[in-house]
Amino acid sequence: MGVDVTVDKLKPLPGDTPSNAAALDKYERDFQSHGQVWGEILQKNFERLSAGSYSLQWMNGEANGWGSQKPKISSRGLTYNDINRVKGSGEIDEVVSWKSFAPRGSIREPYKNMMPVLENYDVLHKYDVWSDNVMPLYEEAVARQWSATRDIPWDDVNGLPEDLAKASCQLSTFLTEVEFAAGDFPAKWLYRIPQDFLEVKSFMATQIMDEARHQEVFRKRALMGGGLMHATPGFEWALKSILDAPNHVMGTFLLNLLGEGLVLSIFRSGEMIAKTHADKEIFRLCMQDEARHVSYGVLQFKYFLDNHPNRAQAEEELHRFADLGEQIIMTAFSEATVNEPVAILLGGGLKNIDKGMEGLGKLWTVFIEEYLQRCDRAGFDRRARCTIPMQLPWGGSVAA
Ligand SMILES: [Fe+2]
Ligand SMILES: [Fe+2]
Repeated sequence: MGVDVTVDKLKPLPGDTPSNAAALDKYERDFQSHGQVWGEILQKNFERLSAGSYSLQWMNGEANGWGSQKPKISSRGLTYNDINRVKGSGEIDEVVSWKSFAPRGSIREPYKNMMPVLENYDVLHKYDVWSDNVMPLYEEAVARQWSATRDIPWDDVNGLPEDLAKASCQLSTFLTEVEFAAGDFPAKWLYRIPQDFLEVKSFMATQIMDEARHQEVFRKRALMGGGLMHATPGFEWALKSILDAPNHVMGTFLLNLLGEGLVLSIFRSGEMIAKTHADKEIFRLCMQDEARHVSYGVLQFKYFLDNHPNRAQAEEELHRFADLGEQIIMTAFSEATVNEPVAILLGGGLKNIDKGMEGLGKLWTVFIEEYLQRCDRAGFDRRARCTIPMQLPWGGSVAA
């Protein structure tokens, strides 16, 4: 009679928390199979210790000339450049074969077959990651860290008229979106780069920290000024295309040469865009950081081209990529959530938005020229092929 439902037949609804059992099964299997080599090492160690014997084999440092030379401390302190002058420490292979944590310059050869292999380390060519300025840039990054909590005169952002306050908050919301992608890009590649390129990894770690601070400072700026405003869907596709770049060099080109170059140009015009001392300070401090990221990007690109075994082919592939990549900039500047707040800030108010749009047109021309100069410096001539118009197509002509 009636519907045959009993409490016994009721099943629990699927839980919100996915089960980790399968992942744990795999981890267990991998752990056990690693245990063969790992277990042998441990077994030998236990046997020796049980026999009451010390090894002291690690005290033999002849293989790498232990004690034969010491780095000279330079006027700035003990830098990466200083320690890399020590023989065996500073030489970096053109193609890295070590996929473990054994430090470059350590005595590691005898242990090669006992080491784990981290397959995620698959960016093995020096020309894919190196730049000749990466070490001083790292030192500079460490020396010039600042605090969004402490170093901005936050009380100062109050008191703007509504149009300027909203424009500042919209621009800050947009910049927060940009900074998320800017941080995720080096984070994505950091784990794929082997430890022999430790200086590059260290620099990337500072870039991740810088971008975390930028998203923090713009989030705080928006919330202090009234609140976060609108997301920018069109440009999110552009940001995603940076993260999807087929290799590190191409992604670096999009992020550091093109995208961050644009952000640097915006920050550089901070005197015109910033309406409060707090905003000027935010732009000034972010600009210092972005200048390092752009500088790495330019010289990494140059190193890649200068050292690639088939430069002509590499250059052509990069041109093909740039033909597409350059489009992301037009996407940014066509979005109302980007060009309108910038125009209002440049013009000094909503009633001067047309004047501000003309100013944006001038900023655009400066930006494209600066981008082409960065390409020149990297030895990548985009002047004949650049797909971005030198004039903002709607610059000064949006007036109703
Ligand atoms: Fe940034
Ligand atoms: Fe950056």
